[in-house]
Amino acid sequence: MTEWKGPCFLVIPNQVLNLIQDLRFRDLDFGLMRQKEHLNHDCLFGKTEKHSRRVSHMELQALEKLVKGRRSLRKWKKEDVPDDLIKKAIELATWAPNGGNYQGWHFIVIKKKEIIVKMADAVQSISDRIAGWPEAKEWQGDVDRYRKNASFFRNAPVVVAAFTGEYQSVMDKVLLARESFDPEAKQVLTFRRSAPTSIQSVAAAVATMLLAFHQMGLGAVWLGAPLMAKGEIEAILRVPADFSLICLVAVGYPDESPQRDRKPVGEVIKFVY
Ligand SMILES: Cc1cc2nc3c(=O)[nH]c(=O)nc-3n(C[C@H](O)[C@H](O)[C@H](O)COP(=O)(O)O)c2cc1C
Repeated sequence: MTEWKGPCFLVIPNQVLNLIQDLRFRDLDFGLMRQKEHLNHDCLFGKTEKHSRRVSHMELQALEKLVKGRRSLRKWKKEDVPDDLIKKAIELATWAPNGGNYQGWHFIVIKKKEIIVKMADAVQSISDRIAGWPEAKEWQGDVDRYRKNASFFRNAPVVVAAFTGEYQSVMDKVLLARESFDPEAKQVLTFRRSAPTSIQSVAAAVATMLLAFHQMGLGAVWLGAPLMAKGEIEAILRVPADFSLICLVAVGYPDESPQRDRKPVGEVIKFVY
């Protein structure tokens, strides 16, 4: 028998390849990836990055589907949302990146209709007052639209309130101690205060929570507008003094399927080499 030393080709249908990748064998190098997948890999990491992990096309597609499929939902069925699902979504949210891994966030899950309505009334009331101020006249159309939609979350079966707790990074402690006499320290503090890491951390958690809810078949919306009634909402929820409300998330089983678009990524991205 002659020994064959040339290349060996194996023909495998795409479905089988997909199955293999779906079974999460992606870390084993089968050497069987389709050309398309090579291109994808090369685009993502560049050909020279030999040691980078191979990105599974299937998993990236699943992630893309999840991220792009999520929409802000503002109409919900009356159906109750099981506590377990909410707890799981919040648990996943706590795996978000956060400043110093301090995890200085708190979440209050409100399922009691009466409390949700109280919070919504507080937001509606301040929106109505603002819309009535003479300064609102110039933008009355937009202001009225805002006012009309200010408290739709009263119909949500569940509202999650997200808070920051007391947190000060060690750098802030140093800067604060010098702020009064050192203009540079004061300037750096101003920069840091322009986007406090405690708020960035809660935002990361809330974004993660929304994806988790979406994956569970729930529909949620991030609500910044209720901050207008921050004092009242904190009082209604009787939170400790160091809790600071960042936003509400209204969630339930969706009763609408809105569409949204995004700018082409080329419009918002710039590489600096
Ligand atoms: C910081 C923040 C605050 C928001 N506040 C509100 C709000 O008060 N009311 C509301 O209806 N939607 C609010 N949204 C949802 C946005 O309107 C929504 O994300 C945006 O229109 C894009 O739509 P999409 O989430 O369906 O892609 C907020 C979103 C973010 C990130």
